[in-house]
Amino acid sequence: MPAANPLAQGLGIRRQPDPCAMVVFGASGDLTKRKLFPALYSLAYRRLLPERFGVIGVARTEDTTRQFLTAMRKSVKEFARDPFRTDVFESLAGGFRYVATDFADDTGEDRVGNALAELDRERGTAGNRLYYLAVPPVAFPVVIREVGERRDGTGWARVIVEKPFGHDLASANELTASIKRWFAEDEVFRIDHYLGKETVQNLMALRFANGIFEPLWNRQLVDHVQITVAESIGVEGRAGYYERAGAIRDIFQNHLLQLLALTAMEPPIDFSADAVRNEKVKVLRAMHTPGPKSVVRGQYGRGFVEGEEVISYREEPGVAPRSITETYIAAKLYVDNWRWADTPFYVRAGKRLARRETTIAINFKQAPHPPFEAIAGDGLRPNVLVVHVQPDEGVSLAVGAKVPGAGMSIRTVHMDFLYGGAFREGVPEAYERLILDAMLGDATLFTREDEVDEQWKLVDAIVGAWGRDRPSFPNYAAGSWGPALADELLHRDGRSWRRH
Ligand code: BG6
Repeated sequence: MPAANPLAQGLGIRRQPDPCAMVVFGASGDLTKRKLFPALYSLAYRRLLPERFGVIGVARTEDTTRQFLTAMRKSVKEFARDPFRTDVFESLAGGFRYVATDFADDTGEDRVGNALAELDRERGTAGNRLYYLAVPPVAFPVVIREVGERRDGTGWARVIVEKPFGHDLASANELTASIKRWFAEDEVFRIDHYLGKETVQNLMALRFANGIFEPLWNRQLVDHVQITVAESIGVEGRAGYYERAGAIRDIFQNHLLQLLALTAMEPPIDFSADAVRNEKVKVLRAMHTPGPKSVVRGQYGRGFVEGEEVISYREEPGVAPRSITETYIAAKLYVDNWRWADTPFYVRAGKRLARRETTIAINFKQAPHPPFEAIAGDGLRPNVLVVHVQPDEGVSLAVGAKVPGAGMSIRTVHMDFLYGGAFREGVPEAYERLILDAMLGDATLFTREDEVDEQWKLVDAIVGAWGRDRPSFPNYAAGSWGPALADELLHRDGRSWRRH
């Protein structure tokens, strides 16, 4: 094992998780390769995993443990944020078992059970189980029954559930009902990986660890809020899933609404799972359904992204040639409570946009009376506080400043805090934090049943209003900032999207 790592400073105060075995269902997927295994590796690298630990990968692909580990070694080298160390990888690999099975096959169930018993015996995992369900929705009920039936009262059992958590409110409720037969709410960890991002947690630190922002954080001083989740990538071979999901289910229903809830919520009394989630759910409940004019859908046509010519969504492999799945959504939303009444939250999310950028911009009201006779330059613009979730993680505040020289010209300048500059430490991957929290039984950064329900209610209402309309797609070029209609959504209110 590596020597004590100075980068783990600050994390030392955290508890070490109990011994446990983690079982990943759907282990041959992209998620395991790109996120889960590299995250486990980084946790092992920092010695944050329990000493007595093991992982079982379960998937349909006919692989052996050795073949699977060869693939994982490659993905750790490619995707982990830490340098590759054979000793660290081997320590993880020693507790790894692979089980190839069709989920519906009972003998597979036995083999998972045998592998778990083996880990308990050989690695001392003490009957504690962390099940990670990264399986398609159809396989979900079978897998949850399997793991539920295996509960025998020795050790704890928790389930991490990957998205999508249902397709609408009804299917989400069905999933919940099947989980509840076996697990209590505090044993269920619904992933929204945006909550594991450092900068998203920093939004709470910014708001609640500083005395100067909260007094400004309301309808009296905020003109409007803009939340952007822009991606430059397309559907990346996930058409089968994305065709049914679209931007509204893929990003809006979860990541975007969570960012909004964290931005708008009241201060929680502490950072415990229920205190934080109680405040978020109040925001989600207070949101009213936007009318059809307040929602814009888009789908990308051909274009250029970062200098490269790319095909349209309809030309992507696996996409119907006349697909009306949206790859972009923008909306004007309201949170109907004392703090935010009449303050618009403009949100947008899209694929194949000009670049990757997730930001939350708090646009403050204009200064009431500029005491300057002539304002040159770009004039007096309102203050904007921008939380850069990614990339260029940090926070920046736009303020008006006097241009040096005679006269009184004002120009906007930025006060910036950049993560990279302020902290020596690299920013951990969201999955590292989330896996560790689930092992510790801390659900603060996971979505609760009632939050998911509220999120689906809003989505169902919007999708319901779309009905059978056939929008004229494509309506934005790949590499642009989305459809013209989204610009109009703000122009109608005398505003515009933040300049990039
Ligand atoms: C996932 C979506 O939840 O988030 C993907 O399914 C999307 O479509 C991804 O690309 C974006 O995550 P990140 O961490 O790269 O912003």
